[in-house]
Amino acid sequence: MDNIIENVKDYYSKQLQSKDDLKTNSCCCSEKPPAEIRKILPLISNEILNRFYGCGSPLPPLLEGMTVLDLGCGTGRDVYIASKLVGESGTVIGVDMTPEQIETAAKHQDEQAERFGFKTSNVKFLQGYIEDLKALGIEDNSVDVVISNCVINLSPAKEQVFKEIYRVLKPGGELFFSDVFADRRIPESLTTDPVLRGECLGGALYIEDFRRLMNKCGWADFRYTSISSINLKNEEIENKLGFAAFSSRTVRAFKLGTLEDVCEDYGQVAYYDGSIPGFPHFFDLDDHHRFFTGKPMLVCGNTASMLSETRYKKAFKIIGDKKTHYGKFDGCSDGADNSKESAKTGSSCC
Ligand SMILES: C[S@@+](CC[C@H](N)C(=O)[O-])C[C@H]1O[C@@H](n2cnc3c(N)ncnc32)[C@H](O)[C@@H]1O
Repeated sequence: MDNIIENVKDYYSKQLQSKDDLKTNSCCCSEKPPAEIRKILPLISNEILNRFYGCGSPLPPLLEGMTVLDLGCGTGRDVYIASKLVGESGTVIGVDMTPEQIETAAKHQDEQAERFGFKTSNVKFLQGYIEDLKALGIEDNSVDVVISNCVINLSPAKEQVFKEIYRVLKPGGELFFSDVFADRRIPESLTTDPVLRGECLGGALYIEDFRRLMNKCGWADFRYTSISSINLKNEEIENKLGFAAFSSRTVRAFKLGTLEDVCEDYGQVAYYDGSIPGFPHFFDLDDHHRFFTGKPMLVCGNTASMLSETRYKKAFKIIGDKKTHYGKFDGCSDGADNSKESAKTGSSCC
């Protein structure tokens, strides 16, 4: 376990100096960020952009005034984008274990605040481990949104990471993260290979084990907002790992005690009012729930909770409650789906 941590630190401090040093495209973002984020990117320092190793765009909307925590923030690209999105009344905390990464990130603090037109920086960087946020003074129920970009796969203690996230999130808070996943368990001999691990492949979570882990750590239901398959583009690495299919996925999960492990039908209907900045016509809760502005949509109890017991409630009207149960929500699958493009939702849900 300590070896994995030290090898990963070495990879991100000594082996990689910029995106060009990556051996595969697993830590390369193929997802086009939403328009609101594309507008902020030109305001971010080139040094930060050149050392961005994320595999997605885990920056949800409605962040103004929020406290956001970025796990494994690297040189801080997503921290600074979130800094602009939360505005001067919000706070962003970036955590990373590799001193060189944190130093580069922190070096740009004043310059970024100035580029955003802020009086003082709303960003704080902490050097430490995502498995032990308590040691960094991050209190229970203190964070509105946890983000992470291509990091949790690197952890040798993933259960501890998800437990810590659950602990620090406020009730109704959101976990929104992008990571590399595998369609099967990676043999142990390969999970400890420093290059495979460093490239975010060796430690990639098998999607069904991820679902089990999430359920165990408190998330009875979670959703994928995007799934794209990864083409490794490196013959040597393909020779070692070609038996597995890897994908980059973005996950949305809420800390809500009311979620059930299967989607249930209470006859609830949701209306989106079009007020989420950047989403005037529709809002995608996940990869199979698109809410068109003003159009009523029948939703399961879990989806209704996600839209009415979180910060998204200001943009949604929910008709009905959970007093009358009409059975399992129509369209739900039975149990885990082991197909290649499986687990569209984290539970056996709609
Ligand atoms: C693939 S990079 C991604 C960095 C950043 N999120 C980005 O998008 O550029 C992985 C980062 O996670 C950090 N990291 C890996 N495991 C960690 C752990 N257990 N605790 C804290 N940081 C960790 C590494 O130091 C590295 O900076």
